[in-house]
Amino acid sequence: MSRTICILNGSPRANGNTKELIRRFTKGAEAAGHEVVCFDLQKMDIHGCLGCCKGGKDENSPCVQKDDMERIYPVYRTADVIVLASPMYYWGISGQLKTAFDRLFAVAELTPDYENPKKECVLLMAAEGETESNFAPVRAFYEGLTSHLGWKNAGIVYAGGNMEAGDILGKPSQLEEAEELGRSI
Ligand SMILES: Cc1cc2nc3c(=O)[nH]c(=O)nc-3n(C[C@H](O)[C@H](O)[C@H](O)COP(=O)(O)O)c2cc1C
Repeated sequence: MSRTICILNGSPRANGNTKELIRRFTKGAEAAGHEVVCFDLQKMDIHGCLGCCKGGKDENSPCVQKDDMERIYPVYRTADVIVLASPMYYWGISGQLKTAFDRLFAVAELTPDYENPKKECVLLMAAEGETESNFAPVRAFYEGLTSHLGWKNAGIVYAGGNMEAGDILGKPSQLEEAEELGRSI
């Protein structure tokens, strides 16, 4: 069954390791017949959540702030799968991704009980460190997030050992893992 996949790319590096993971994931997903839409958040004008809790009044434009989140909302609302793609920054996701994700609260505000739309979720992450303990904080964040949102984890690629942009091109197994995950959606 063809599905719609919304990728939120939190890497500021246009040809960084995260982007390579996204390219291969997309290749696999498109080969399987899925539709993929990727938002490169660094190139977009997205402001931090104001915490005003005054959104959710217009389903086409749920947030009080009118910026490039307007492009993401309609894709996010109808997508079957959300891909969180990010470099590891201080044992977490990048600010670009966190900023955009916080703004998705405006979609939950469309319902009386702040119910988030149910999704499957994927995590693609590039990092310099490669130990289990290096990824533990992100694993805890991702598990907590998906569990509280009621989202199903469809797969994770932790691509450690990558510091400079393009380092991952020397690690074909990590890229194959991303492509296989895309194909498996
Ligand atoms: C501000 C900053 C913080 C970082 N923090 C971590 C970290 O906590 N753990 C880690 O393993 N790598 C860390 N790194 C390394 C990046 O995760 C790594 O370079 C990654 O491959 C970048 O992905 P990109 O090429 O998509 O930008 C950090 C890099 C930067 C610039």
